[in-house]
Amino acid sequence: MSIIELKNVTYKYPLDEIPAIKDLSLSIEQGKVYGIIGGNQSGKTTLCNIIRGFIPAIFLGQLDGEVRYKNKSVQDYNIGSLASEMGYSSQNPFTQISGVKDTVAEEIAYGMENIGVSSADMHEKVEELITLFKLEELKDKNPYELSGGQKQRVALASVVALDPEIIILDEPTSQLDPQSTEEIFQIVDRLKQAGKTILIVEHKVDLLAEYCDDIILLEDGYLRKCGTVHQVLSDSSILEYGGSLPQVAIFYLEQLRQQESVPITMTEAIEKLKGDRLV
Ligand SMILES: Nc1ncnc2c1ncn2[C@@H]1O[C@H](COP(=O)(O)OP(=O)(O)OP(=O)(O)O)[C@@H](O)[C@H]1O
Ligand SMILES: [Mg+2]
Repeated sequence: MSIIELKNVTYKYPLDEIPAIKDLSLSIEQGKVYGIIGGNQSGKTTLCNIIRGFIPAIFLGQLDGEVRYKNKSVQDYNIGSLASEMGYSSQNPFTQISGVKDTVAEEIAYGMENIGVSSADMHEKVEELITLFKLEELKDKNPYELSGGQKQRVALASVVALDPEIIILDEPTSQLDPQSTEEIFQIVDRLKQAGKTILIVEHKVDLLAEYCDDIILLEDGYLRKCGTVHQVLSDSSILEYGGSLPQVAIFYLEQLRQQESVPITMTEAIEKLKGDRLV
């Protein structure tokens, strides 16, 4: 079932001449994990802001076409009330910290306070998230004292705290080491098991290959590819659009390219298989 629909969306930032998103149509299905890929400035963050409703409400500019969430135009929702339905962690972890809380634990609780969660439920949830995100040693620290990677984990915990139906993560692992990155993807997987719909902007395609259902590839504001993770991440034409392929796919595509001759009879195929096995 489609939960978010974009139809012929074109968007121009207020002072820009050229649209950042161009005639983009897309359907997001409930319960799937989507990887959003593309080169620098290809429009990934802009697309996230359009879906979240920050565009045009906050960024202003000219938005044409339709953006619908649960069959209703995103612009017809109250942008604040959408916060409990659509969690969003922005690309810059430094702007994610509220600035009004003194400890990591309070920071994670902040969003829940705003939507009136009871104190007991809030404490329970905060403890759960501190364990899930491995923040035990940081929970009494000031959020401003954290490293970029630690801020990213706190920002993500704050998003998950609100239990939103849609989770939009804009490069959530950019400041994390490989192990913490893998852990974030494992959390993404748990959220998927819990029925969430997740959009994740990420350059690490090897992990997207493992954890995503579908891939969205943007180039220069255009939607260049949208399909199953297998269709898109095994297609070498994505390289022309600024996409990248997983290491394993690169290896196998290279093997294929090196095939000198293609067998056309069973005998030739068997001979070839035998030969390949000896290598
Ligand atoms: N606030 C803004 N005001 C004006 N133009 C903007 C703004 N934010 C982005 N743009 C422009 O929109 C286009 C798409 O930018 P966007 O940040 O969405 O790309 P991106 O794929 O997220 O890039 P990155 O990989 O660097 O995060 C770029 O040409 C950029 O200059
Ligand atoms: Mg971006």
